Amino acid sequence: MAEKDVERTIEALLEERRTFDPPAEFAAQANLNDAAVYTQAEKDADAWWAAEAEHLDWFEPWETVLEWTPPHHKWFIGGKLNAAHNCLDRHLDQNGDRVAYHWIGEPGETRTITYSDLHTEVCRLANVLNDLGVRKGDRVAIYLPMIPELPAAMLACARIGAPHSVVFGGFSAESLRDRINDAECKVLITADGGYRRGQVVPLKQNADEAVAGCPSIDHVLVVKRTNEDVAWTDGRDLDYGELVAAAGADFPAHPMDAEDMLYILYTSGTTGKPKGIVHTTGGYMTGVSSTHRNIFDLKPETDVYWCAADIGWVTGHSYIVYGPLANGATSILYEGAPDFPDKDRWWSIVEEYGVTILYTAPTAIRTFMKWGTDYPGKHDLSSLRLLGTVGEPINPEAWVWYQEFIGGGKTPVVDTWWQTETGAIMITPLPGITKLKPGSGTTPYPGTFADVVDEQGNSVGRGGGGYLVLKRPAPAMFRTIFGDDQRYRDTYFAKYGNETYFPGDGAKLDEDGYFWLLGRVDDVMNVAGHRISTYEVESALVDHKGVAEAAVVGRKDPREGESIVAFVTPKASVDGNDELMRDLREHVARVIGKIARPQSIVFTDDLPKTRSGKIMRRLLRDVAEGRELGDVTTLQNAPILDEIRTKAEGLTGGDE
Ligand code: WTA
Repeated sequence: MAEKDVERTIEALLEERRTFDPPAEFAAQANLNDAAVYTQAEKDADAWWAAEAEHLDWFEPWETVLEWTPPHHKWFIGGKLNAAHNCLDRHLDQNGDRVAYHWIGEPGETRTITYSDLHTEVCRLANVLNDLGVRKGDRVAIYLPMIPELPAAMLACARIGAPHSVVFGGFSAESLRDRINDAECKVLITADGGYRRGQVVPLKQNADEAVAGCPSIDHVLVVKRTNEDVAWTDGRDLDYGELVAAAGADFPAHPMDAEDMLYILYTSGTTGKPKGIVHTTGGYMTGVSSTHRNIFDLKPETDVYWCAADIGWVTGHSYIVYGPLANGATSILYEGAPDFPDKDRWWSIVEEYGVTILYTAPTAIRTFMKWGTDYPGKHDLSSLRLLGTVGEPINPEAWVWYQEFIGGGKTPVVDTWWQTETGAIMITPLPGITKLKPGSGTTPYPGTFADVVDEQGNSVGRGGGGYLVLKRPAPAMFRTIFGDDQRYRDTYFAKYGNETYFPGDGAKLDEDGYFWLLGRVDDVMNVAGHRISTYEVESALVDHKGVAEAAVVGRKDPREGESIVAFVTPKASVDGNDELMRDLREHVARVIGKIARPQSIVFTDDLPKTRSGKIMRRLLRDVAEGRELGDVTTLQNAPILDEIRTKAEGLTGGDE
């Protein structure tokens, strides 16, 4: 984000001056309601995290809480535990009959899955995987819709100690293939298809296309979800349901070292292929269970908790699977779209199941705002006692709307900042303690040390704006990038040195020391709460036979956070017409996934470049957002900008 944008955003945000104290009744019953927790954790962060880790079941205790050799850090050294044991086995004695997931399929069928049911399914599947030769350390790819088999597959891997790599079901065959190959996965678990907005998503077809280029895959386990006919490769493809039904229901949870890898999850980077973010066991489980218990004020006996993300993203890993299950929560797992069959689907689920805690993204909230208050208004939402948001900065209007029309004007709203890399929430209110300011993530979670610094790394102090940094590792933070530790160092620690993690976000500190997150400062766009790099979309575009060169920027979008605008130079003989535009949008959807499809495409004979040939995306962003151009002194071909500007005048957006 250019400095000018930061200033403008800050100004807009600062006009929002409403504050909300924790309701007295809420504070009285909250899991954390004494602000002393902050000072204690600041004085002795290791002691705080050790106390949080004690909430887990350890097969063997740790010797050292933190070993920090910047930029690397290890937690709970010597400790042994198993994530699946913590999510399942330890609840069985007392709470085996408690519901882990109320699953709701998009077409309307439901399944009630208790902790004991899930435990049995996971053990059986672990036996199946073990029979297929999956051992500790082997990677397993998972490409499933939002069905109970998805968390079961993750936990079966965790039980064995085989890191999983979940690939979002909306990604294309090519994206799946690249991720499988990067991690050299041995087995792929997928489904025949899934349901989305009444349509069947052809997962098996994508999987077949992907696996054709994946030499490491020995077997493909296929869940029958839609029961449509799918192609079948004998010997390689296996029926999940049949094998699981025939497998034994006992499988011991493998004692894992605290630092053993739990999973890899790919996320967009500024350049190059997606990064395989590596999370380990002890620290991650400590971070997600602690934040889930304290930020969502979880009361496992009475709450019905719903994180409405997809498990294919980190939010689902941490706050649908590992955090909630470790805490013995009862969750909603909903397969489909919020507007199927109608725009009140979520609210009918909240009413029917008596949901008490709802966690979603600003993009969803803004969509609900657009649809109007009649939809939530038709339902009794009075069971809700706490709301959360994550994924991008939330504008104060949306925050206030969320609290008013979904939370009945009474619930705290926790705006939680974190990333795939941080594994767990880092900046957030504690709902029984923190005075809320709509639009602000408020303050770092206990035991987390954040600051806002300038280009040189100096603290800007209260009232200043600059770059967000984390000054000390937290246990759930990733350990490295799979197979590329140098990239870990270069991406996150080159800017301010090995002791200071730079997440790539701009931020501002207000006079009370509250953090206001301002979005990415690099070439990563935030589309509907998901990170997409300009680089990936550009690569997909130039991969099309009619394209010579392409530059992609994110343009602020009232609903999506950012929408993708592509500036494309067609090859000499190719006409930049509507047909090519349609073709390119479809091409990107095919290569990466629909989420990356450019909303607008501007054809141009040339792109603005520096004298050394670098495309100046910053100027294209100015053009896309229709504002005055920033500094053009290093521009080599200034006249092209006027031309692009004229062409871009018609950018309207909202063509979905
Ligand atoms: C952005 C999602 C403002 C931020 C959990 C971050 C946010 C990126 C917030 C990570 C928030 C996430 N306020 N911005 N509450 N939460 N972000 O890896 O730019 O998909 O760097 O993880 O989302 O996206 P990721």
